[in-house]
Amino acid sequence: MAAELTLRRPFDWHVHFRDGSVMRAVLSGTAEHFASALVMPNLVPPVVTMDDAVAYRDRINAYLPPNSEFEPMMTLYLTEATSADDVEKAAKAGVITAVKLYPAGATTNSDSGVRDTTKVAAVLERMAEIGLPLCVHGEVTDPDIDIFDREAVFIETVLDPLRRRTPGLRVIMEHVTTEDGVKYVQSESENLAATITTHHLMINRNHIFKGGIRPHYYCLPIAKREHHRLALRAAAVSGDGRFFLGTDSAPHVDGAKESACGCAGVYNAPNTLSCLAHVFEEESALDNLEAFVSMNGASYYGVSPSEKTITLKRQGTAVSYKSKVKTEEGDITVFDPECDLHWVVA
Ligand code: DOR
Ligand code: ZN
Repeated sequence: MAAELTLRRPFDWHVHFRDGSVMRAVLSGTAEHFASALVMPNLVPPVVTMDDAVAYRDRINAYLPPNSEFEPMMTLYLTEATSADDVEKAAKAGVITAVKLYPAGATTNSDSGVRDTTKVAAVLERMAEIGLPLCVHGEVTDPDIDIFDREAVFIETVLDPLRRRTPGLRVIMEHVTTEDGVKYVQSESENLAATITTHHLMINRNHIFKGGIRPHYYCLPIAKREHHRLALRAAAVSGDGRFFLGTDSAPHVDGAKESACGCAGVYNAPNTLSCLAHVFEEESALDNLEAFVSMNGASYYGVSPSEKTITLKRQGTAVSYKSKVKTEEGDITVFDPECDLHWVVA
């Protein structure tokens, strides 16, 4: 059995850093292991213009240690008022790497998102023209649709029609959680890819309710049945270039999670690489870990893989992680995979 793995430094193609004191506390969890990460724009208020993205990038860089080589990649939050010219300017200036579509009301801080995708057609067409990718939170928001069905219904009623209307648009189905999503991505040979989170490879919906309600396993899209988790694992470990890591590491302080109406989000950045090596080892696919975490996403986004490397070592005794990260606003609970982890970043 391999005891050491050296990989190109990974990219996290979907992360939430938040802002201010929470960002200060969580940033190192990602920056210490990753070459770069695609930073989600769902702040309050959201990152909607090029100027907002420049200012947010500056705030992130200001919190990185002076010797850090981590590079944040920025996104804009698509609204029905987004200007195609501003998007193009931000892309051409190298300020943004993608635009994010949140259906209004689908998740945390998505109220300014898109209600009617035909209203953003001009922006999407411009993005297709200039080759700027669209990241999609793929869930319908209709309260009459069962929460476990919202991804599958979104693909059929929103995503596929949107893609047909906008030929050439490069789309990433973010945090895919269903076999339906995996199959949809596999059915297309170009302009469609998906990110998969660490936690959706490790938990199914039973974890949310094991012995009581477990708010730290609640995220959106919600974890689904076991057969969906197995489909995600098969896709992730396959080496297929259409699937790559987006952790969706989404910190919320414990008070906001452990509440009568707790926030959605799993904070998994600190132990993500240990968890992923564990999953790939279980699937006898450690040889494909580098494709999933370091190569596939870079290739889809058209950026060079990192020249730097990271080494993971397998140790006999279980790795211990801090279960919480302290912030000025309160503690944040780190994802508990409920199994011993043996791989650790050296
Ligand atoms: O669980 C989630 N948390 N899903 C999202 O889409 C947003 C995220 C957040 O920002 O907390
Ligand atoms: Zn997210």
